Amino acid sequence: MPDTEALQLRGLTKIYPGGVQALHGVDLRVQAGAFYALLGPNGAGKSTTISIVASLLNKTAGLAQVYGFDLDTQLAQAKRCIGLVPQEFNFNSWEKVRDILIYQAGYYGIRRREALPRSEYLLRELDLWEKRSVPSRTLSGGMKRRLMIARALMHQPRLLILDEPTAGVDIEIRRHMWGFLRELNAAGTTIILTTHYLEEAEALCRDVAIIDAGRIIEQGKVAELLSRAQVETFVLDTQASEQTLGTLSTDAGPVAARWSAAHQLEVVLPRGTQLHPLLAQLDAQGIAVTGMRNKSNRLEELFLRLVTQDPTA
Ligand SMILES: Nc1ncnc2c1ncn2[C@@H]1O[C@H](COP(=O)(O)OP(=O)(O)OP(=O)(O)O)[C@@H](O)[C@H]1O
Ligand SMILES: [Mg+2]
Repeated sequence: MPDTEALQLRGLTKIYPGGVQALHGVDLRVQAGAFYALLGPNGAGKSTTISIVASLLNKTAGLAQVYGFDLDTQLAQAKRCIGLVPQEFNFNSWEKVRDILIYQAGYYGIRRREALPRSEYLLRELDLWEKRSVPSRTLSGGMKRRLMIARALMHQPRLLILDEPTAGVDIEIRRHMWGFLRELNAAGTTIILTTHYLEEAEALCRDVAIIDAGRIIEQGKVAELLSRAQVETFVLDTQASEQTLGTLSTDAGPVAARWSAAHQLEVVLPRGTQLHPLLAQLDAQGIAVTGMRNKSNRLEELFLRLVTQDPTA
């Protein structure tokens, strides 16, 4: 069995009943052991792709293989390899937290005797042990998200797919979840996640694909993509109001600048540009800069440029 590839998609196409074409031939290869980010704007096709892989949704055309198992001909084996954390909560809200995990294990033929210690381990890891006996509807949003992760891991899948795992999760718990996912990946589980927090993709993932309007528009190592992010946008706080700007330049050439709010100027600069000349020119125009920050992280810059095709976005 070819087991070096955790996921292979070729020409994956989806046309929803009613005619919306969500996927236009998606090609994707994810190596076993990868920590992979699938990024894209709302409606790009991320959840559609994931739902097809997890066989919650039928594809219209194309090939999908999970650890070499073809979804069309070896569905049961493929399913056994996958743990899915869907974007929407979908557990029975009246069931108790621990029971949800035990029932899930039952779907995979895991007996209660084995499921109990596994559920305890996961509930403790995900900080839900205290909540094990309450109905799931009484959990907070962030707790429900963690319960979904615990449930997806009950049968020890080789590939964990998370659709927006940290949406609505506070920063402290998010960091805790990152640690947990890193350990899981280090222990050999392949992880694919979608996220709208690009800093999350940058912090966790080694590989990334960017999907837009149902097509993969970029794919590669996070580090390589980042090294291609050639410009940075800075936000400068000033004491001036939105006065007309004179010419601005640095060693690298003319500088694009615009007022983005009262007293706030945005400038786009090539990476590594010396800032002193720019600040001096602004000062000479009566614009005193009192603070500055990077508008977004580098992956965000790159992402915005790719999906909007706007060099100053
Ligand atoms: N059940 C459905 N019926 C018809 N069209 C759908 C259905 N689900 C999704 N779509 C459409 O398919 C496209 C892709 O949606 P999808 O949910 O895969 O996007 P996404 O990348 O996950 O977006 P988000 O970041 O908002 O979660 C969108 O145009 C969406 O409207
Ligand atoms: Mg989605």
